[in-house]
Formats: sequence, C-alpha cells, structure tokens
Amino acid sequence: TTALRIGIAGLGTVGAGVVRLLRANADLVAARAGRPIVVTAISARDRARERGIDVSDLRWHDDSGALATDPEVDVVVELIGGADGPAARLVEAALDAGKPVVTANKALIAVHGARLARLAESRGVALAFEAAVAGGIPVIKAVREGLAADRLTRIGGILNGTCNYILTTMRETGRDFASVLADAQALGYAEADPSTDIDGIDAAHKLAILAALAFGRPVDFASVHVEGIRRISAQDIDFARQLGYRIKLLGIASRSAAGIETRVHPCLVPQSAPVAQVEGVFNAVVAEGDFVGRVMLEGRGAGAGPTATAVVADLIDLARGHAAPVWGAASATLQSASSMPMSQH
Ligand code: NDP
Ligand code: HSE
Repeated sequence: TTALRIGIAGLGTVGAGVVRLLRANADLVAARAGRPIVVTAISARDRARERGIDVSDLRWHDDSGALATDPEVDVVVELIGGADGPAARLVEAALDAGKPVVTANKALIAVHGARLARLAESRGVALAFEAAVAGGIPVIKAVREGLAADRLTRIGGILNGTCNYILTTMRETGRDFASVLADAQALGYAEADPSTDIDGIDAAHKLAILAALAFGRPVDFASVHVEGIRRISAQDIDFARQLGYRIKLLGIASRSAAGIETRVHPCLVPQSAPVAQVEGVFNAVVAEGDFVGRVMLEGRGAGAGPTATAVVADLIDLARGHAAPVWGAASATLQSASSMPMSQH
C-alpha cells in the first residue's frame, strides 16, 4: 500500500506533538487509515531549535511555502498559526495546487474559512480543521456529522483552555493572574500572543467556526461581540464564590427569528451547573437541536496531546478517502447564503 506523505509547517507545541503521536502510534494509525501516514518534509522558523523530537531524517524547507509544491508531499499540515502571513499563504498555495490541507489554525478558518472553502471545493480537495475548535474534543465531526439531521438553535460553551485554566487556578489557589498565565504558556496552552486568549479573541474565532457549521451560513468574525477576562480580579472570583457562582468565559451563538447572535464574555455560572464543573484546561461544547435536545461534549481544549489527536484524526480520514466536504451538510447552504440577509436563516 502507498503511504500518505505529509509535510508539516510549524513544529511548536502542536507540530512536535503530531510528529510524536505519528511515531508512537504508527501501527495503530496505519491500521485505521488503511495505509501508513509518514512525515516526509517539515518547515519551521529556526532549524537549530531543540524540539524534543529527532527530525534529522526529515527534509527541511526554510520556506514553508515550498511544501505546497514539494512532489513528495501529498497533504500539507499547517501548524504555524495566524489569520494572515505565512500560514495563510501556505494554505492558499497548497489548495490552489490541488493538495489537501489539515490545519489547527482557528484564526485563519474564522476569518478566511468561507473563501478557502470555495477554493478547496473548486480544486476538489479537502480542507480539514478538527483541531481548530476545542483541542481534543471531536466537535467538528459531532456538529457536521452526528447532529447533521437537526436544526440547531444554540451552540457554544467553554472554548478557551488558557482562560479556563487561569480562572480555575486563581479560584483554587488564590494566585495572581500574571503568574497563572505564565504557567498556561509553559504548558503549551496559550497562543503565541497570549492576549489572543485572555481578550476572548481565540474563543470568538472558535465560536464563529461553530456557528458557521451549526447554522449553515458564514459568520462575519467582526460581528462577534468579544470581551475577555483581563479585568477579572481575585476579588471578583471570591465574590462569585460567596454567592454560589463560578466565573467562566463562555462563547454563545444562538439562532432565532431575528437572526444569529454571537457573543463571548465572562459569565456567572451557578456552581451546580454542568458547565461550572468543567475546570482547568478542559473545554465544554454545548449544542441544542430540535430533535436531539441538549448535547454536551467535554475534554481537553488545548495542549500538544489532545490537539495532535485531532490533527491525526483528520489525516486518517484523508488517508481513507473519507474527508467530508469543507462545511459538510452546511456546504450547499453556505455557498448560496452569503448574499442573503441573516434573518432568512
Ligand atoms: P507554537 O508557537 O508553539 O509553534 C508555532 C510554530 O510555527 C513554531 O515551530 C515556529 O517555528 C513555526 N513558525 C513560525 N513562523 C513560521 C514561518 N514563517 N514558517 C514556518 N514556520 C513558522 O504554536 P502552537 O503549536 O501552539 O500552535 C500552532 C497552531 O495550532 C496555531 O494555529 C494555534 O492556534 C493552533 N492550536 C494550538 C493549540 C495549543 O494547545 N497550543 C490547540 C489548538 C490549536 P520555530 O519553532 O522555529 O520558532
Ligand atoms: N490557546 C488555545 C486555548 C489553544 O487556550 O484554548 C487551543 O485552541
């Protein structure tokens, strides 16, 4: 059988995690994929950086864009990050060249997803992004496939591991915001610029993606109301506790006759509510549909292992030839929805 050959751009927390997982579980992954999945080429910024993995047998590209045209790369895996810049250029070039792309980049998909989806579909290739929302929780699959029969009215939840880790640890230990944030960075949870996490932007990226999938229409990222946790003090957390609440950063998208509303902000959640029990780096995604009722999925929302699981699951789908259309069941609606007023959806 022919191996699926992948080129990875970005070998930080997630990229190194993907290499590690593919090596540790090579036999299991090959069995489930129907053929081996092998890394043939890599790219990052600093070739000399110590990454805790041996990459000396892999072909190195100084320019990540070269992965798009490397004849020994069947699938490009983009793990650089950022809505614009080298990640966007690489993904666009790869799709344009007819190569499938797997990415964990929620900023890119939230801001440019609809356009990239059209490009992928015009070239007949997959653009997969399970890792972009809620780390190890298989939420894209759940919404696109498991809940495909329902009309969803609400989707959202705890969508940022760094913020949930900070709020949980501050409450449990009384430590200050800055030192807990430094821990989240050291654990590989935070974005390269952690203000993306603590100002709620990362949760908003994920919410925009979930809402587009759930409601079958593109969401203008700029229209998402965003407020982060920067101003939450130890005293706020303590007051909430005394009143029987926990503070959680929630992202909520809802659809009604009036249209679609998307917002991210800190919320007071009763201590007994299921979402209040979701602590530390864990995320929770709650969806409500007309036939299924309420569904809640919980799991680790950040970190090398959980995110690598999601990236490799997308690669296994591709190896088996099972990749779903970019926006799944929503795809046909998305194509035609862009010029219609929101209230019709
Ligand atoms: P890191 O900052 O740890 O890694 C980024 C990698 O990109 C580094 O290896 C860096 O190179 C490389 N890089 C930067 N610029 C370039 C460039 N111009 N060309 C080639 N490579 C470049 O980020 P993460 O691994 O944490 O995140 C990667 C992506 O995954 C992001 O989109 C992020 O949002 C997403 N994500 C992250 C999760 C997490 O828990 N960390 C969870 C889910 C998604 P060098 O190492 O040489 O500096
Ligand atoms: N920085 C993100 C978080 C990574 O903390 O949730 C996972 O997408």
